[in-house]
This record gives sequence, structure tokens and C-alpha cells, in this order.
Amino acid sequence: MKEKLRAIRENALKQIENSDALEKLNEVRVNFLGKKGELTSVLKSMKDVAPEDRPMVGQLVNETREAIEKILEETKKKLEAAAREAQLKSEVIDVTLPAKKNNVGHRHPNTIAQEEVERIFIGMGYEVMEGPEVEYDLYNFEKLNIPANHPAKDEQDTFYINKEIVLRTQTSPVQARVMEQGKLPIRMIAPGRVFRADEVDATHSPSFHQIEGLVIDKNVTFADLKGTLEVFVKELFGEATKIKFRPHHFPFTEPSAEVDVSCFKCGGKGCRFCKGEGWIEILGCGMVHPHVLEMCGIDPEEYSGFAFGVGLERIALLKYEIDDMRLLYENDIRFLKQF
Ligand code: DAH
Repeated sequence: MKEKLRAIRENALKQIENSDALEKLNEVRVNFLGKKGELTSVLKSMKDVAPEDRPMVGQLVNETREAIEKILEETKKKLEAAAREAQLKSEVIDVTLPAKKNNVGHRHPNTIAQEEVERIFIGMGYEVMEGPEVEYDLYNFEKLNIPANHPAKDEQDTFYINKEIVLRTQTSPVQARVMEQGKLPIRMIAPGRVFRADEVDATHSPSFHQIEGLVIDKNVTFADLKGTLEVFVKELFGEATKIKFRPHHFPFTEPSAEVDVSCFKCGGKGCRFCKGEGWIEILGCGMVHPHVLEMCGIDPEEYSGFAFGVGLERIALLKYEIDDMRLLYENDIRFLKQF
């Protein structure tokens, strides 16, 4: 038995010495100390040893195991250190190499224009609100005084999800949603995406953006609307900008107007930019129709208000003198970087 143990021990030590990789070392461990290992099988044959010899043999087996384990552990540490050394050598980092440039993105002209408009109205005490892009026909049309057979419905080439649900054609439905909440007074703008089945060209896109404005309070008059929009355009296009209201019709406002600003490029003389007109149309507006107030649960005898809707792309194109709307959607970094 003694002889056998010594042979196992020598054999194990020799194999450990010859192990040049951690995997091999592990194999040796399993071969000698594992469940079916050589040393374990000696332990199993203890029943053949005479009872009086068992303590002595048991001690020998333990000593052999400890000796093998000790050498295994030492060799493992050495191999691990060598492996780490080799890895460090192979992964040399050249700290003198120039760093990779990090390409930071850029705000889109639409975003810049929207934030500018928000800044102006927040400064006048307005709240910025939102409404859904997928909207009920009820809010997009009916509650804005545009019933099923109204000709105004015809002008907006609507994407229908089904008979009752549309992709909103304007941000005006947010007006009805906010009024319905019943919290008065209201001073809000609602920027967002709108959709119409338009062909793509230099001034049209099936998806574009509007910013809606709504004020409801006691004693709000057309004078308040004029004053507000005048402040707005002067902040946006410069102090010298003049403003002109042209009578117009929108179903949800009465009276209604379209607003032109004096061309900030030529100051009103007429140039290529304003197509010789001296004026540029920028938005629609008016006093909220009493019937719309009623439909949204507000007493038109007590409250009045004004609303306006402006195209965001329109503002971005004018402000940055971009002559084709399609450039805004191509997302060519070289283009976007200029603003
Ligand atoms: N929603 C209108 C459009 O898309 C724009 C508009 C006009 C909004 C007059 C208004 C308004 O709030 O009062 O053409």
C-alpha cells in the first residue's frame, strides 16, 4: 500500500511538472483527486486493509493528497501569472495614438425653430401642451365646427385609419381637448406632427409640423390677439418686422384672419425671397367660435378667446432661408450642420 501511494504521488508530481497550461493541470487534478481518480480508488479499497492498519494507511493517503494539492495550487498560481504576463504583452496599448473623434449630433432646424417659438410663448406665460397624432375625427373636425359634409373637410386630404379615427390634419384638435378639461383660464401652445395625403414637393410633405396657440379668459378681444402675434413675430424675425391681418375663413374661429409679416430680407420692398410681394404669409388665426366654446363646455357669454396655428417648417424655412422643404427631411448631416 505504501509503495502504491508513493508511486501515485511521484506520478502525480511528474505530471504536474509537465503541465504547461491550466487545462492540463485541471486534467491532472481530476485524474488523481477526482471522484474516479487514483487516490480516491485507494480510499475505496480501505475495506481490504486490516483494521489495525487503517489509521496509518488513512494518514498516508491524507498526506499524499495534501502534497499533491499543495503542488497543484503552486503550479496553478505560476501558470496563471504566466498567462497574465503573456496577455499583457500581447495587448500593448499605444497611448500616443490619436483618439477617435466623437461625432456629436446636431439639433434639427425644426427643433431649433420649435424651441425658439416655445421660448417666446413661455416668456408670455403660456404652457406647452401635447395631443395625440392619431386622433378621433370628432376632435380633428366635429368639435372644430367641421361637420361631416362641411366643404372645409375636403381641403384637408386626410389619412383615415377608419371612419372615426384619422391621422390629425392639424394641431387644432388639441384646442378642443384642452378646453374640455375645464381648467380656465387657458394660455397654451401645442406643437406637434400633422399629416395630410399631399404629394412631396418643395413646399409640401405628407407629414409636417404645426404649433397651435389658444388663449381663453374673460374679456379676451381681437386686440389681444393682434398684440400677442405682433410680439411673437418681432421676437422671431426681428424688431423691424411689420404685421398684417387679412380677413379669412376658418370654421372654428370668427372672425378669422391670415397673418403676413413684412419680408425680413428686403424689408417690404419686394425681392426674390417674398416673390416680389414684400409680405410673407405665416399663420392663420381668429377668435374662437362661440359654437366651439359651447361644444367644449365653456360658456361663450362669460368667456372668449383667440387661437392661431403656424406651420413649423414654414418658420424654419424662412428663418434659415432654406428654399426646399425636402432638405429638412433628408437628414444629410452636411446640410443640418449649417444651422
Ligand atoms: N388649423 C389651421 C390649418 O391647419 C390653422 C389655423 C387657423 C389654426 C386658424 C388656428 C386658427 O388655431 O385659429 O390650416
